[in-house]
Amino acid sequence: MAKINQRAGAPASAMLGLGVYRPERVVTNDEICEVLDSSDEWIQTRSGIRTRRYAGEGESLLDMAQIACERALKASGVAAGDIGTVILATSTHVQHTPAAAPMLADRLGSRAAAFDVSAGCAGFCHSLSVASDLVRGGNARYVLVVGVERLSTFMDPTDRGTAFIFADGAGAVVVGPSDEAGIGPVAWGSDGSQSHVITQSMRCDELTPDHPLVVQMEGTAVFRWAPFAMADVAREAVTEAGLSLDDLDVFVPHQANLRISETLARNLKLPETVAIARDVQDSGNTSAASVPLAIEAMVRKGDAKAGDTALLIAFGAGLSFAGQVVTLPPVADS
Ligand code: UT7
Repeated sequence: MAKINQRAGAPASAMLGLGVYRPERVVTNDEICEVLDSSDEWIQTRSGIRTRRYAGEGESLLDMAQIACERALKASGVAAGDIGTVILATSTHVQHTPAAAPMLADRLGSRAAAFDVSAGCAGFCHSLSVASDLVRGGNARYVLVVGVERLSTFMDPTDRGTAFIFADGAGAVVVGPSDEAGIGPVAWGSDGSQSHVITQSMRCDELTPDHPLVVQMEGTAVFRWAPFAMADVAREAVTEAGLSLDDLDVFVPHQANLRISETLARNLKLPETVAIARDVQDSGNTSAASVPLAIEAMVRKGDAKAGDTALLIAFGAGLSFAGQVVTLPPVADS
């Protein structure tokens, strides 16, 4: 048997810089309710959402991802040519093949290995874990991770269960070697018995010409599941990092619904000193982009800063979920 060499990587990894892109177009609840049978009051009370952003006409998924990545590279001080792997998490890339990541890498001037991750709203936290392991395993020195969605393309504006929730945006980080561990062990898993709860199926038939890939969601099922199931995942992530809840400065749950975030924090018995991300109020649910966007919003508003210890938890279609404790990186100005 031939002796196969394996690479050895960095002893520790961390996020080195974060950048985001928010489309310019702000969409109010009143605008949503011009088509949707709902009201600003109902949407705010049930979800916390006040506004969200939609990509402009001609503004593509790759356009948004590129800007977020360029900002993350700048914040980290890493050159695009030094990136060894690009991981793009999304549910809204319009082609099954090829993946979006190689096109993104090309735009950035990189020939790195590049692939997409499909894990719904949990895609960013899945990708962050893979990136950390690539750096620690030695298969890449620097990894670019981006969560990006253009969900406005895939919504039925008259669907009361989704039309006011989902939105567009991008958030990216550079992961690389670090003196101190800045990305804790991932707590993750799936429950495929609930695969029907959030779907975006291929239905390119004459009955759905305008929305062939429309997102469908049993929101109440997610609502009943997430605040309880994710509390266990959160505890596992904190314990595996060798920490307790008292060590946390910041809690960044996936921005699905403010009531889910608040119930989850209550179930966890999170200390009151821990700042909780509330970006869903201004950004809606941007799926794979929501966690990095929420981090950026907290840092911009002074609710968090680089060096803070943060618990990230994401969950969504699959059902899939992932979370980890991280040290917040420097954040680029947007
Ligand atoms: O990213 C992970 C994916 N998941 C999510 O982002 C969402 C998770 N779930 C949720 O955010 C919530 O389940 C929703 C916000 C989607 C819905 O809130 P809910 O409290 O679960 O409402 P519900 O569906 O149980 O409906 C309550 C009431 C019903 O009326 P009655 O039967 O009480 O008279 C609905 O008919 O609200 C009515 N309703 C609406 N009214 C105005 C349902 N949707 C709407 C609407 N506008 N859009």
